[in-house]
Amino acid sequence: DWTPSSIIDAQVEQIRARVGGARVICALSGGVDSSVAAALVHRAIGDQLTCFFVDHGLLRENERTQVERDYAASMGIRVVTIDESDRFLDALAGVSDPETKRKIIGREFIRSFEAAQRRLVDEADSEGEDIGFLVQGTLYPDIVESGGGEGTATIKSHHNVGGLPEDMQFELIEPLRELFKDEVRQVGLELGLSENLVWRQPFPGPGLGVRVIGEITRENLRILRAADAIVREELARAELDRDIWQCPVVLLADVHSVGVQGDGRTYGHPVVLRPVASEDAMTADWYRLPYDVLGRISTRITNEVEEVTRVVLDCTSKPPATIEWE
Ligand code: XMP
Repeated sequence: DWTPSSIIDAQVEQIRARVGGARVICALSGGVDSSVAAALVHRAIGDQLTCFFVDHGLLRENERTQVERDYAASMGIRVVTIDESDRFLDALAGVSDPETKRKIIGREFIRSFEAAQRRLVDEADSEGEDIGFLVQGTLYPDIVESGGGEGTATIKSHHNVGGLPEDMQFELIEPLRELFKDEVRQVGLELGLSENLVWRQPFPGPGLGVRVIGEITRENLRILRAADAIVREELARAELDRDIWQCPVVLLADVHSVGVQGDGRTYGHPVVLRPVASEDAMTADWYRLPYDVLGRISTRITNEVEEVTRVVLDCTSKPPATIEWE
């Protein structure tokens, strides 16, 4: 019978048997999945685990501080932040195709972890083979949608599944790969993670990179980050956080639209709000946000983010659309 504690016990035993005395690194994003995976592996092997939090330059406002403060400090797990934003943004320059973006991001994640691993080996002055394991918070739906399930087509390459480079040196530990999100949340609570963390809305590993439609530039990211912060603030204020599965905010960097400000013409970008309700992200319905909340969000974004001239609502279910735009 499935219970959170039976999953934990089984995984702890498996991880110990597989890893032995080796050291292990974990790719921590600050989201629910990788946080639960890290906590589970930490329960199994304690300080043999080091987590790396990669700042890829595609994070939301305040995300880095939040992970460093709320997660790292509260869990007693060793977390090292590595700033790799130049590496990612340089590799992504000039790229607009969604699958190409995803493959680049997946590859650069692995390259970042390989570099981090080498530093860890140098520090410890030990053999490289000692740290060949990489923990990821991959879930069952990630595998299915990346085309990893039997007889399934690739819908999009999740950065941690179909987006991995072929010459990757790591052996993967993925203790959640048979679970759905609601099960992961239960396992997280059982492991003692805070409600705050366990109920965080999903945020994709490729981050804002798959929410800028068109080329990812620092300027586009700055605009999107500002709009996204307003949306999250207003949804939290309206206490809609838990009802909504997630609400991607998407910048149509390739599209311009005419507006008017005072006596003058403006010519900026639209942003799209994509609020959805879902059980497991495999299917989703668009979430009926109250009109007054929509109105406040629209007014604030167009007042406070100069480059945005229009706010539009995505009212499509999954299928036929996916949750993220890319
Ligand atoms: P889609 O857009 O496929 O998204 O309907 C389903 C869920 O998965 C998240 N998502 C990702 N998560 N790496 C992740 O860790 C990825 O590459 C990725 N792509 C999509 C998305 O935010 C939604 O919750």
